Amino acid sequence: MNDVSLHGATVCAPGDAWPSNVRPGSPIVIDQNTAVVIRRFDAARDTASLRDCVIDQQNFHRNLEPSWPDGDAIVDEYLAYLDAECTNHRGCVMMAQCGEHTVGFVCVVAATRGESPDDPAPFAWIHDIYVRATHRGAGVADMLMAEAERFARSEGAQVLRLGVLDRNERARRFYAKHGFREYTHVSTKPLE
Ligand SMILES: CC(C)(COP(=O)(O)OP(=O)(O)OC[C@H]1O[C@@H](n2cnc3c(N)ncnc32)[C@H](O)[C@@H]1OP(=O)(O)O)[C@@H](O)C(=O)NCCC(=O)NCCS
Repeated sequence: MNDVSLHGATVCAPGDAWPSNVRPGSPIVIDQNTAVVIRRFDAARDTASLRDCVIDQQNFHRNLEPSWPDGDAIVDEYLAYLDAECTNHRGCVMMAQCGEHTVGFVCVVAATRGESPDDPAPFAWIHDIYVRATHRGAGVADMLMAEAERFARSEGAQVLRLGVLDRNERARRFYAKHGFREYTHVSTKPLE
């Protein structure tokens, strides 16, 4: 398989056969003519779309938590961060393709761990799962989650975790629907 790189992340090149342990799920049909498929990130084709998605996702979070920085302000550093995470923790980015358009993505790493020594067991971690507002409620996120799980399992992970803002009720319901239970709680208090 030829690997290409987004800032160093290992991904499948376009046209590559899928690895035997990571196959795209069955496509869903969004409308009469257009199916959605999940495929591996391709730097040449997807970098601009991934950038747009990250900016929109960050601004979505910023609407919930206004102290968070603007999407444009963080996107370059965040893409480099995802790249490093994928490289260091056996991760990948997968894109949801709907006809000509990229409508979402997921970034999952297979093996990471907390920094504190009190919980040393490695786990898989979903850094991001995002679907464009126009395509929410249609099953695209279900497909992305299924592929992220399939990838994590194929890499030997036994636990899958993620973080979510408390105010992100839709995402929290989505995760509950997919069998996640709430695990830790981070509290915040403004100090005047
Ligand atoms: C989180 C996300 C990927 C989920 O994808 P989705 O297509 O919206 O998922 P679903 O439509 O299955 O919605 C999940 C659940 O939220 C609830 N929900 C649906 N519409 C809702 C709405 N307008 N408001 C609140 N909750 C809603 C429902 O309980 C739904 O489950 P159901 O289908 O069994 O009824 C997507 O909403 C998204 O990209 N959000 C912005 C980015 C984000 O928050 N990412 C996660 C960061 S942790």
